[in-house]
Amino acid sequence: MATENTQNEGKGEEELVDPIGEMAGFQQTESRISLHGHPIHAMSVAFPVALAFCVFGADLLYWWSGDVFWARAGMWAAGTGFLFGMLAGFSGTAELLLVPGIRVRAAAWTHFIIAVTLLALLGANWGHRLYGFEEAVLPYGILLSALCAGMVAFTGWHGGKLVFDYRLGTSKSS
Ligand code: HEM
Repeated sequence: MATENTQNEGKGEEELVDPIGEMAGFQQTESRISLHGHPIHAMSVAFPVALAFCVFGADLLYWWSGDVFWARAGMWAAGTGFLFGMLAGFSGTAELLLVPGIRVRAAAWTHFIIAVTLLALLGANWGHRLYGFEEAVLPYGILLSALCAGMVAFTGWHGGKLVFDYRLGTSKSS
């Protein structure tokens, strides 16, 4: 953080100035990718979050029961989780690039990097199952699912920080 030698009304104290906070558009954080003010990204993230946990659950049930139904369910949950994750990623990226107050904050870019890592893992978990969904589960499928579940929890938690700590995507109107 840069310092500026502005004096505090004769008290002789040095005031710290955040150059990012001084940038034009810093306060403009309202969502642009929304339906009647409701951000599409926030609406769409529920699907990949839930589906990532479903894959892990299906893998555990396949491991426990040996029922091929769970291996097939795991493949479908992995595929739909990845595709819905991509959809959430596109709306999030558009928000990041188009909204000045989101674009200037480092935390938004951190979320982007975490989320893209998650999308790569979700895609790998689906692709791994495409040419033999039953053999794919043990051991690598279930290991990937566990990693995806941890990563989606981290991504979702961090996304929540953007909204509830930084108030990104929220409306400033009363
Ligand atoms: C890949 C690029 C992504 C970018 C650039 C991105 C960006 C953002 C931004 C800017 C917000 C603040 C709210 C808004 O403006 O809508 C946000 C919130 C959030 N993001 Fe992402 N995101 C991405 C992907 C994901 C993915 C894949 C997930 C999870 C599967 C995710 C989970 C969340 C969650 C849970 C929130 C909080 C929503 C709320 O509570 O209202 N994001 N994201």
